[in-house]
Amino acid sequence: MIHVDPDLTDEDFLKLFEKGIKAQWDSEQIDWGAVEGISEIQKQALGQVITPVYLGEQTAMLGISQVLPMVLTTGYAEPALYLSSMGLDEARHFRNLNHLYRVLKVDPLPSRRLPEMWRYHARLLHKRDPVQWVFGILISDLFAKTFYGGFADRFPDTVVGRLSRRTLQDEARHQAFSDRYLNRMLPTMDANARRELLVLRDDLFRIMERLGERLRGSMEVLDWSPEEFLAELWRDTERWVNKLGIVPHPHSADDIAAL
Ligand SMILES: [Fe+2]
Ligand SMILES: [Fe+2]
Repeated sequence: MIHVDPDLTDEDFLKLFEKGIKAQWDSEQIDWGAVEGISEIQKQALGQVITPVYLGEQTAMLGISQVLPMVLTTGYAEPALYLSSMGLDEARHFRNLNHLYRVLKVDPLPSRRLPEMWRYHARLLHKRDPVQWVFGILISDLFAKTFYGGFADRFPDTVVGRLSRRTLQDEARHQAFSDRYLNRMLPTMDANARRELLVLRDDLFRIMERLGERLRGSMEVLDWSPEEFLAELWRDTERWVNKLGIVPHPHSADDIAAL
């Protein structure tokens, strides 16, 4: 339940919250006119490849608004504080991409051309448990990071690269949140609940493979491939899975109990 006057002692989350507040920025910090060096065909391709990231920013807003009451009503106010600032970050990312489409004068892919985007969205929304949610948000943050990183490398001195680099700073903080939250919660979970996280990871990756196929043509225009993208994202995700120790030790008591 919610406490009127909690002690707020979890310094890790409080520090991250302060950092999140200080790091806020607005669209005036971006030079929206820097479009030279992006050809018309590249703009069209960018419009298509950015589409799942664009919806992903809204999915992130939705995810945060789902998980926040779950965390706050268990009386854990510090992560709920941070999640509130994270919601503002995602709203800014969504707003900025909305503006970017108008600056580039291109359209996102219509929904029917990218049905996996909705499957991904539905798979995340399916979850009622805050740990599953935060893990899904982490994978989505890594997905966004891989895209923004690729845009920053390919169009470094343009509005696309500058916006991507600035957004990546927010995304790094979001990963730090997931790291702290999952580290606190994982020891309270049994082997089955932890395996469920890997099922979620595998489901999301299967959806992303199909999504990559749909984007192949436009990615190739950007000198990119779905394989390259997914390999990078998988490496990143696995690094987190190992760092967090999600995979139960093969001989742990939990594992034996689950047999
Ligand atoms: Fe974002
Ligand atoms: Fe994020």
